[in-house]
Amino acid sequence: MISGKGGLVAVATLLGGTAVIVAGLGAGWFGDEAASDGRDLSRGAAIYADACASCHGASLEGQADWQTARADGRLSAPPHDASGHTWHHSDRLLLDIMRRGTAAVVGGGYASDMPGFGDVYSDDELRDVLAWIKTHWPERERAFQAEASARDPET
Ligand code: HEC
Repeated sequence: MISGKGGLVAVATLLGGTAVIVAGLGAGWFGDEAASDGRDLSRGAAIYADACASCHGASLEGQADWQTARADGRLSAPPHDASGHTWHHSDRLLLDIMRRGTAAVVGGGYASDMPGFGDVYSDDELRDVLAWIKTHWPERERAFQAEASARDPET
């Protein structure tokens, strides 16, 4: 297992992108189990497939042209893999967005397609989804995001 995964990582690195790992292994890949933060990754994966993949992509690839606002002024769904910017943000902010939706978090009349899921899923379930998303990030992105979380603690 470990040597197999290491091989894939090495190949992906040679090809210059972690997206290759995700594309190759799909959203069923549980990544680095040791980094699960004790979360239920199977439940996180199942919720992601049910409630998030339609916009963020089955392989966390996001929607086309996600960096450019559409004609209606809204942004498309960003990838949750290392090619996006989810890993730039603290756990506190990501969970807030997942619970309340982006419009409520940004405020000021900001319009967004990202709904809030706080009425649909428990806090525990949303943390499982976030933990599962994190297993798809390479070590460097995980470390960066852990530091962002440490600087912006949940109260
Ligand atoms: C209807 C489409 C849609 C669905 C379904 C959806 N999202 Fe989103 N999501 C978006 C869009 C669009 C954005 C970007 C919003 C913006 O910046 O205005 C976004 C942004 C996010 C962000 C912020 C990411 C970042 O890089 O800043 C997180 C976290 C997130 N979504 C998690 C989830 C999770 C978890 C689910 C499933 C429980 C989910 N989303 C389901 C459309 C969706």
